[in-house]
Amino acid sequence: MNQTIVLAGGSGFLGKALATFLQQNGFEVVILTRGTAHVRDHIRYVQWDGATLGEWTKEIEGSRAVVNFTGKSVNCLYTKKNREEIIRSRLDSVQVLTDAILGCQKPPPVFIQAGSLAIFGDTREICTEEAPHGTGFSVEVCQLWEQAFFTRELPQTRKVLLRIGFALGKNGGALEPLVNLARYRLGGTVGSGNQYISWLHIDDLNQMFLAAIEDEQLSGIFNATGPTPVTNKEFMSTLRSVMNKGWAPPTPTPFVWIGAYLIMGTDPSLALSGRNCLPQKLLDHGFSFAHTDLKTALRDLLHD
Ligand SMILES: NC(=O)c1ccc[n+]([C@@H]2O[C@H](COP(=O)([O-])OP(=O)(O)OC[C@H]3O[C@@H](n4cnc5c(N)ncnc54)[C@H](OP(=O)(O)O)[C@@H]3O)[C@@H](O)[C@H]2O)c1
Repeated sequence: MNQTIVLAGGSGFLGKALATFLQQNGFEVVILTRGTAHVRDHIRYVQWDGATLGEWTKEIEGSRAVVNFTGKSVNCLYTKKNREEIIRSRLDSVQVLTDAILGCQKPPPVFIQAGSLAIFGDTREICTEEAPHGTGFSVEVCQLWEQAFFTRELPQTRKVLLRIGFALGKNGGALEPLVNLARYRLGGTVGSGNQYISWLHIDDLNQMFLAAIEDEQLSGIFNATGPTPVTNKEFMSTLRSVMNKGWAPPTPTPFVWIGAYLIMGTDPSLALSGRNCLPQKLLDHGFSFAHTDLKTALRDLLHD
């Protein structure tokens, strides 16, 4: 079988990490990007617009898997324009990839969609896959996204949606701004500190994608996070300890609002809300985590 994996929107933080990992595991990687077509590090970047069919669909034909990472980053101010683009970029890419797969003579056996644990909203209750959805803009985005992914049937293609948690990796992602704060002795508790961070190491996330590609038993929705979520207070204290930083003053909620809007240009809910999620279905399936201890995971990423 063709060993090409197509990563739509794979030029970002998660896609780049998965591309390297897949290459190490013997797969060819093609990335669909709105940027110009080129080849780098044996990865072919093919142009698309994330919304309409085009020449790029040839890459889907006969491929081993399609993974969709496309979406405007949620790390922005939630203006009307940004909200619309956050939703549109996600729904359009799901629709056009579905169209492309339906148009294949040899469709890929599996279509994997990056989703988010944000569907559970802001809650301290334990959330397995069966937990109720929350409320608010991010929840609505996730609901529309999941609905778009599952509504249209693909007769020959298995569908897997990974609700991804707070993915800890090198060079970017959600960890980078926290490391920068801690570096300048600002890595104290954020807001109440009681909001949960459902974290996972990028190596475990990559293994989940590989399992979704190779294991025909995996289908449907999975919480793609680690088994040991922590509160923000615990996370920041562990981060400071790994970075050899002493106590840092907490940032009270009003300061987080001001800092988020005026300095970081992002929505304060990203730092002030959280969820306490478990990867129940993956655990039941026997998925084995390399990283369950936050301190060890952070040491691995920040010191190696
Ligand atoms: N990182 C995490 O911890 C995390 C957690 C939960 C869920 N997720 C979800 O997983 C997906 C990938 O995350 P990531 O961290 O890799 O994101 P990312 O670094 O922002 O990459 C997403 C990619 O999507 C493309 N894109 C951005 N805006 C777009 C637009 N308006 N229209 C079409 N394409 C657009 C970009 O590719 P080009 O510019 O090359 O076209 C970009 O590289 C996202 O949907 C994110 O919401 C991530």
